[in-house]
Amino acid sequence: TPLTPYNTFGLPAIARRLAICRNEDALAQWLKANPGANPLLLGGGSNILLTRDVEQPVILNRIMGKKIVHATQKEALVQAGAGENWHELVNWAVAQGLGGLENLALIPGTAGAAPIQNIGAYGVELSDVLVEVQALEMATGKRAVLSAADCKLGYRSSIFKSSHKGQFAITGITLRLSRPPHQLSTTYGAIQEELSSTTAPTPDDVRRAVIRIRQSKLPDPASLGNSGSFFKNPELPQDVFQSLKSKCPDVPGYPLPNGHTKVPAGWLIDRAGWKGKRSGAVGTFPKQALVIVHYGGGTGAEVWAFAQRIAEDVARKFGIHLEPEVNII
Ligand code: FAD
Ligand code: EPU
Repeated sequence: TPLTPYNTFGLPAIARRLAICRNEDALAQWLKANPGANPLLLGGGSNILLTRDVEQPVILNRIMGKKIVHATQKEALVQAGAGENWHELVNWAVAQGLGGLENLALIPGTAGAAPIQNIGAYGVELSDVLVEVQALEMATGKRAVLSAADCKLGYRSSIFKSSHKGQFAITGITLRLSRPPHQLSTTYGAIQEELSSTTAPTPDDVRRAVIRIRQSKLPDPASLGNSGSFFKNPELPQDVFQSLKSKCPDVPGYPLPNGHTKVPAGWLIDRAGWKGKRSGAVGTFPKQALVIVHYGGGTGAEVWAFAQRIAEDVARKFGIHLEPEVNII
């Protein structure tokens, strides 16, 4: 089966076997009956690059459901099935009067993939609201519950992307959201600008502002294949950042609590001359150099080769190593 409709790059890799899973019990049964099958779980396919055909079984996670499982005056615990669309979950939470997800509006993909890289945008990360992850052990089908601390969420990282890669099938997540009065996160420059004429903004105002900002600079995968930011923003030790700054005085940098400085990979790629560059079916997005786009008719191997040329050029020009953010298959 071609995976073209199941990855937002729109790449044509073939899956030997493709199954859709709509409930946790069926998935547990399947894992028990197929030990060692090592399936590839996919949600929205919005953070993967398929560089080849996929030999192992591909399982589309469509475990649905969202509900408030506990509420106090101040907060509500929300449980969502892993197959729920993330943006619809954000919209639903805001419509219920709950706060905490509004900055994460319009991130593509599913609720179940959100912990994998600890999705984040505009000053908020999943780690700010995650309580626990419900999962099945991939090798045995046994149920497991991981607390947020167990997941070791960091900047675009978790145990699911590193030490425990491929070991859990996430079936649901539980989030802690706020009830009014909300503590909004509006310190991000672009949000402040969008809300400059709004007095007493609500979570819905922030949600709308984030949607407008994102639509102005990120490509919609429905019309242009992409997986969002292709690389992570590098976190540089102080001496490395200072030597970069002496060569490029205008380089933006965001100081981190550990003394390192986060530098936008998009700025480095742009400054290296790659913004809007195209090579055959692949290029960088003209409005955001960190987003690699697939214009159609290309292969994952071409996308990967293009990405490597960018990383090599950035290493040569700035001495900085870029790491992919996207999961390379
Ligand atoms: P998939 O691409 O289907 O899967 C991603 C990885 O997780 C794969 O390795 C897969 O095997 C694994 N996986 C998926 N589901 C499960 C499961 N249930 N159990 C176990 N493993 C699983 N990300 C951000 O953090 N911030 C952003 O602002 C952002 N903006 C984006 C903008 C655009 C236009 C696009 C295309 C992407 C953007 N992303 C962003 C990346 C992406 O949306 C997120 O990483 C999202 O969480 C991926 O969800 P998905 O369901 O599509 O995951
Ligand atoms: N920049 C350039 N040229 C470019 C692109 C960016 O100079 O071509 C500069 C911008 O001017 C700005 C800085 O780089 O000063 C940062 O750019 P932007 O605000 O667009 O954010 P980003 O650092 O590129 C990160 C996340 C996004 C997230 C936004 C908002 C990573 C790898 N990416 O992008 O996440 O939506 O911040 O919080 O951390 C994703 O993970 O897929 C993703 C889109």
